[in-house]
Amino acid sequence: MEKTMCELFAGVGGFRLGFEKLNSGWETTWFSQWEPGAKTQWAHDCYVSHFNDSPDSEGEFHTGEDIATVKKDTIPDHSLLVGGFPCQDYSVAHTLASAKGIEGKKGVLWWQIRDTLIAKRAPFCIFENVDRLLKSPASQRGRDFGVILACLNELGYDVEWRVINAAIYGAAQRRRRTFIFAYNHNTGYAKRMNSFDVISILNKEGFFAKGFPIEPIERTCEIQLPDDIVEVSDTFKFGFENAGFMKDGVIYTASVTEIAEAPILLGDVLQSNVDEKYYISSEKMPKWTYLKGAKKIPRKSANGHEYVFSEGPVAFPDPWDRPGRTMLTSESTLNRSTHVVSDPGTGRLRLLTPIEAERLQGFDDDWTNTGMPPRMRYFCMGNALVVPMITRMGKTLDTIIAEEP
Ligand SMILES: C[S@@+](CC[C@H](N)C(=O)[O-])C[C@H]1O[C@@H](n2cnc3c(N)ncnc32)[C@H](O)[C@@H]1O
Repeated sequence: MEKTMCELFAGVGGFRLGFEKLNSGWETTWFSQWEPGAKTQWAHDCYVSHFNDSPDSEGEFHTGEDIATVKKDTIPDHSLLVGGFPCQDYSVAHTLASAKGIEGKKGVLWWQIRDTLIAKRAPFCIFENVDRLLKSPASQRGRDFGVILACLNELGYDVEWRVINAAIYGAAQRRRRTFIFAYNHNTGYAKRMNSFDVISILNKEGFFAKGFPIEPIERTCEIQLPDDIVEVSDTFKFGFENAGFMKDGVIYTASVTEIAEAPILLGDVLQSNVDEKYYISSEKMPKWTYLKGAKKIPRKSANGHEYVFSEGPVAFPDPWDRPGRTMLTSESTLNRSTHVVSDPGTGRLRLLTPIEAERLQGFDDDWTNTGMPPRMRYFCMGNALVVPMITRMGKTLDTIIAEEP
């Protein structure tokens, strides 16, 4: 099997970089990255400046356009489909035209992944999403992930998933994300997995167990998915745990404990004596102190109900002796979730530099220094994933593909 990949929702190329770092012959045949509503496509430009653009199978360039407008059968062949897509409302209804057809809400990106799978039938897939995907929506816990699994099942894929906290596996950031590994029934890997029971797959033999060791589990909870995706959307509820497996529509899940490795600490990624513009001025300090502190604020809801909004303090400054917190797209703005650190050289409080933001995600220094404004460099890093986690997954996939006919 060729090591070819297609990267949807590519951002600045976290999946691709993770695989390229393996130096094991992966080639990306196509990618797609388009920021809705943005005049300048900074992430796409950054991606192209590192990797060049990719023509589709008709020799045309549509990588920087809304994926919904791309004819999926023009996407070049690939053996691996990857993408980090947002947590949205995945509910479906029957189409008016046919009771068998399904229709999801407009603009929901999962349906673009599904269309790509239908057109291209990639044997392997790795997807990334936020950890709350497993519990969404609040009114019908597990429905959204159930819909995703039902789609993959219908298209002939078995699935493993794990919520991975990057800091536990040696990264510099406490970032918890749901990773989904799907493989087609017709792969040699699917056939090999048929000889293991679910406990062995989750503990030792499966895709995630290989690169992301856990304390052994002894049992799983299981449930049969309805075949009809609309029924899943309308009625399915399930308590998905942080690890699991689905085969032929039967879902197995277990709460697993990750075996921690020595992390990289926030102090390890900091630069010293940085430019003055990153320091917090004495005028802004009271605002930062307020945002980071505990508070109780009387509020009124839309229906007139009065309540007290309260939140505890967050570490201020962020400690050097722990991995960083989860980086958001708002990093570096005046915001409670923005990291504030004490500079190792001057001891004064300041924001992260764009290079430090890149290091928290495991990108090379200055990856996003491709002409975009600094605020966009933080934004792109907040959107990205922790690259070394992908390199680990790639290592496991390399051993799997080596055994494919
Ligand atoms: C969560 S981010 C993925 C980031 C990526 N994994 C990385 O390492 O940078 C999702 C990306 O999907 C892009 N996107 C959103 N809607 C899109 C659409 N309709 N077509 C193509 N890309 C889209 C966003 O601009 C964003 O960069």
